[in-house]
Amino acid sequence: MMGKIVWNKAFSVESKYLDKQHKQLIEIVNSFNQALDGGERATMAFEVLNRLVRYAEQHFRDEEKILQMVQYPADQFQAHVREHEKLTEDIYRHCENWSSVGEESLPGIGQFLKDWLVNHILNTDMQYCKYTRNFDDSFMSVT
Ligand SMILES: [Fe+2]
Repeated sequence: MMGKIVWNKAFSVESKYLDKQHKQLIEIVNSFNQALDGGERATMAFEVLNRLVRYAEQHFRDEEKILQMVQYPADQFQAHVREHEKLTEDIYRHCENWSSVGEESLPGIGQFLKDWLVNHILNTDMQYCKYTRNFDDSFMSVT
């Protein structure tokens, strides 16, 4: 049983919209790890991982759009986008591993997702706070 990620103020990137999306991502990653403790774990984990890929795609698009609107410096922006792309590639790589190795690869995937999300928010996302802080994102609607 893996510990849940619990959102707290340290995770805030000072954007209501992006904080909400991050909370949703945390919830999905927690669901993935919870699914591993259940009976139908492979089916459940597969559904949750699909949901995660779709939601992460939406979130990355929104986050990148906001970063462009706040004129986040180009080099930092590029590095950030690269991290988003890398995650997507890594998830697909883990999925391939899952289909060849089987269910025993699932806890490793769960751990990877958890570490990635926490590190990305606390280290990479946190760097854009001073740009998003004064940006009014209320015109964007959270899905
Ligand atoms: Fe990000």
